[in-house]
Amino acid sequence: MEKILVTSALTYANGKLHIGHVAGSYLNADIFVRYQKLIGNDVIYIGGTDDYGTPISLKAEEEGVAPRIIAERYNKSIKKDLQGLNIQLDNFSGTSRPRHIKISQDFFTNLLEAGYVTKKTLKQLYDKKYKRFLADRYIEGICPYCKSDGARGDQCDNCGKLIDAINLIEPKSKISGETPIIKETTHWYLNLPKFENELREWLKIKTYWKDNVRNFIFSWLNEGLKERAITRDLDWGVPIPLENTKGKVLYVWFDAPIGYISSTQEWAENKGQPDLWKDYWLNPNTKLIHFLGKDNIPFHTIIWPSMLMKQKYPYVLPYDVPANEFLNLEGQKMSTSHNWTVWVEDYLKYFNGELLRYVLAANAPETKDSDFCWKDFQAKINNELNNILGNLANRTFIFAQKCFNGKISKPEVLSEQSQQTLNEACKIADYIGGSYNNYQVRKASRLAMDIARIGNKYFDETQPWFEVKKSKKIAEETLYVCTELLRIISIVYSPIIPKGMKKLRKMINLPGKISWKDLDKKQIKFEISEVSQLFKKIEDKEIEKQLELLKATQTVEEKIMEHG
Ligand code: 2FM
Ligand code: ZN
Repeated sequence: MEKILVTSALTYANGKLHIGHVAGSYLNADIFVRYQKLIGNDVIYIGGTDDYGTPISLKAEEEGVAPRIIAERYNKSIKKDLQGLNIQLDNFSGTSRPRHIKISQDFFTNLLEAGYVTKKTLKQLYDKKYKRFLADRYIEGICPYCKSDGARGDQCDNCGKLIDAINLIEPKSKISGETPIIKETTHWYLNLPKFENELREWLKIKTYWKDNVRNFIFSWLNEGLKERAITRDLDWGVPIPLENTKGKVLYVWFDAPIGYISSTQEWAENKGQPDLWKDYWLNPNTKLIHFLGKDNIPFHTIIWPSMLMKQKYPYVLPYDVPANEFLNLEGQKMSTSHNWTVWVEDYLKYFNGELLRYVLAANAPETKDSDFCWKDFQAKINNELNNILGNLANRTFIFAQKCFNGKISKPEVLSEQSQQTLNEACKIADYIGGSYNNYQVRKASRLAMDIARIGNKYFDETQPWFEVKKSKKIAEETLYVCTELLRIISIVYSPIIPKGMKKLRKMINLPGKISWKDLDKKQIKFEISEVSQLFKKIEDKEIEKQLELLKATQTVEEKIMEHG
């Protein structure tokens, strides 16, 4: 049995959950965790909200409330929406909780004492009107590297490079809209160049990491690591644990990943075993796996491991960092500031969470950006879930009830075609397991649907509706094989569409609790009970409604851009 600790990137607590978050780091993690549980591994799934940082302060200022109010509000809302999609974390915490402050300060102190943090006085951009230093998202300008507009003070979304705000071309304060002045301040820097050799050594064996992740890391390393400021002049954040440093807090990207640990500690405490977190974090055999979007790669593969390496506790380092690319919406880059996204809360008012799980899994941005569009959503549900999988269940079960009173037994001898069909399904089930293990959710989903396709083809070829008139036995054999295929499907599809598969198993009178090993437990008899439609078809008008809503809520700015 393996010990696995899975995390999803902590979502900023400045807004609601949207489908970009789901496709980027939640659904893939949840599917992986469900599969690991099915094969009997000891896995915990940890997450929460990233409560500090400029976006939350900005929102609090806009609303005239304390940042904590914003963080708590969105922590609750994100947690609820995740539940609505049946994404089951073992713990969902937030980085503004007291436990997190203490451990983040310890991380800072340990790095400082080990000689990896240095204090420097530097020049920074300053908003004279609002009397504050401008860092990260408080400032925007032209990217010094790719020259694209709208680069932030910490990172350029266009080329992905990290930026020192002072190097932005034509900087503008996001608070006042004015050109900032330059003023001196003091900050603490993480000496990343000092970690280079250790990092390279550690990364040597990470040949199994995804190509997109490795390419990113090595381009960073080869450009040469630079010292990075890990503190900010702000009042919303973890205060730095040094005398006379009022107004200085840890940079949100320094404390955020520590949130994975504090959330695990919270989980252990809630379980009444406060030391249990150590079994995972301080165990060299734990596989620590961080699910995240590609913009989070450098922080998790360079800065975070460096931080972990120099602590007093012997923390385990990331085993893998399966980063996803981005999800676009209707062919355009998603943008929360322009309301060009699908909020999970809104989605759930109209559709079942399972359907979104299915579509986002089948279309996961694993190796390249992918697109969510409503027409494709409808097509996938209607043509795949309904016309292939739903159809196989429906025709098999209805027939079984009509002609066999729902009772189907395995024939003593199976025809060659039946045997081959079952063998093929078992072979595919093995590939599906391998795909889940390699974070290849798209492939797993396609293969699982292939089993249903094979079932429909077999049903068509063996013509039970015709055979039943001559020999009930032959027709029963077809129904037996198809039900057996559906039983296999109910296991292999369960990480992606757990509720639907539970419903399917109920129709075959099989227990809801499953394990991957059940795949080998061939049934001799089936009893079909209460048949109902597995998934509902989506009407054109339902999709038109979503498209209208999307256009209606898109902000004015976006409309101008779109229409020239
Ligand atoms: O990009 C983001 O949304 C960050 N809040 C991710 C943080 S991940 C981790 F470090 F906590
Ligand atoms: Zn750029």
